[in-house]
Parts: sequence; C-alpha cells; structure tokens
Amino acid sequence: MNVLIVYAHHEPGSFTAAMKNLAAQELTQQRHDVVVSDLYAQGFSALAQKWDFVTTSGGHFNYMLEQKHATNLDLAFSPDILSEISKIRTADIVVFVTPLWWFSVPAILKGWFDRVLAMGVAYDGGRIYENGLLRGKQAMLLVAAGHPAEYFREEGRHKATALQILHPINHGILAFCGFDVHEPFVALNVMGLGTAARAKTLNDLGFRLQHLTDSPQWLIKY
Ligand SMILES: Cc1cc2nc3c(=O)[nH]c(=O)nc-3n(C[C@H](O)[C@H](O)[C@H](O)COP(=O)(O)O)c2cc1C
Repeated sequence: MNVLIVYAHHEPGSFTAAMKNLAAQELTQQRHDVVVSDLYAQGFSALAQKWDFVTTSGGHFNYMLEQKHATNLDLAFSPDILSEISKIRTADIVVFVTPLWWFSVPAILKGWFDRVLAMGVAYDGGRIYENGLLRGKQAMLLVAAGHPAEYFREEGRHKATALQILHPINHGILAFCGFDVHEPFVALNVMGLGTAARAKTLNDLGFRLQHLTDSPQWLIKY
C-alpha cells in the first residue's frame, strides 16, 4: 500500500519524531511505500492565502469556493499545495504524527488540513462523510500529549478523554472527507516518561502499526 506520513514537529529528538521514525521504519518493513511530508522541514505555510491559487474567480473572496474554482481549472493551486494533493491522491493510508496543542494540532498541521483538503479534492457539495471524495482511504492520528493520563478522563481535569478531544479532527475533518479513521494512538505524559515507560509506549505503538492494515476493530464506527 502507499502510505503518506504527515509529520508536524521541528525537533528530531522529540517524542513525536520518535513516533514518526517508528512509523516510517515499521511500515517500510511491511513493504508499504512510505512517503513523509515533514511540514516544518518543508517550510509548509499554515496560512490560507489568495496566492494559494493560480488565478482567483474575482469578486468576493471565499477560500472554499476558490478551492473549487481551482479544482475545476485542472488543479490550479500553488505548487506546495499541488504537491501535497498529489501525495494524498496516491496514498491508501495517511498517518498524521503530531503533538497535542490546545486540544488540537499545531497551526502548521491545521494549515495543511485547511489548504490541502480542498473543496473539489477532498469533499464537495453532497460529497461528504460516506460519500467524501477521499473514500476508500484510511487515516490515523499518532499524538504526543504532555499532560498526564488522569487529566484525560470525563471526570478528570480535561473533562474529556483523548478520543473525545480528537473528535473534531477524526470526525469533523477526516471522516468528513471520506477517510475510514483508525482509533488514534495517543501517548500521554510524554515529557514525564522514564526510559522504560517511553520504550513501552513505543512498543505499544509498534504493535498498532504492525496491525494497521489487518485490524478493522480499530476503525472508529461513526
Ligand atoms: C502551544 C502548546 C499547546 C499545548 N497544549 C497541550 C494540550 O492541550 N494538552 C496536552 O496534553 N499537552 C499540551 N501541550 C504539551 C505538548 O503536547 C507537549 O509539549 C508535547 O507533546 C511534547 O512532545 P514532544 O516531545 O514530541 O515535543 C502543549 C504545548 C504547546 C507548545
């Protein structure tokens, strides 16, 4: 299968980088074709701008409708967006590797969602969820969170589990575009992990990745 890893961290020594490296290694070993979009290394822009399009339709600027306009002009997007669209179209599975920032993802990854999952490319009028344009593809989030496990309970400090916190991304973005979405792998308390706990967490992730393509029980049922 073709796997796209979209990676959002600056630091090669980070836990997020360790998850990305493990995913690339494990999935390559499984003979998948793995491509990595390293967003910070690429200098990927988080900002949705008018110059994301070769031409605009004129008049009132509506980013979503300009995406549709650009798609109709044979994908008249800026080269950085076009390159990511091409990777998405080739991918069977997209793995997003990111820290948890403010119950969400860093702006650079949010910007990737905004700019790459374009109207006409990822979804369209009447083409959402089970009819989304990315139907047939799978997606999974690998997330590093700084806060401790006891925060991530409905009765804990965050008043929500990690799965609930990630619902806007898993459902509102990925399932919306038609992806079958795997339950996320969320590593908690990553800055407080000792050597043994860090190794165990990466080992658990390795197990999930070994079964990425043969474990329908880990697909979220919406
Ligand atoms: C802007 C910002 C927001 C953050 N928000 C959260 C959060 O909502 N929940 C959480 O558990 N950790 C939060 N953190 C902590 C990061 O998740 C933590 O630094 C990261 O997972 C460390 O992983 P790394 O070793 O890969 O950098 C935040 C950090 C930053 C910089």
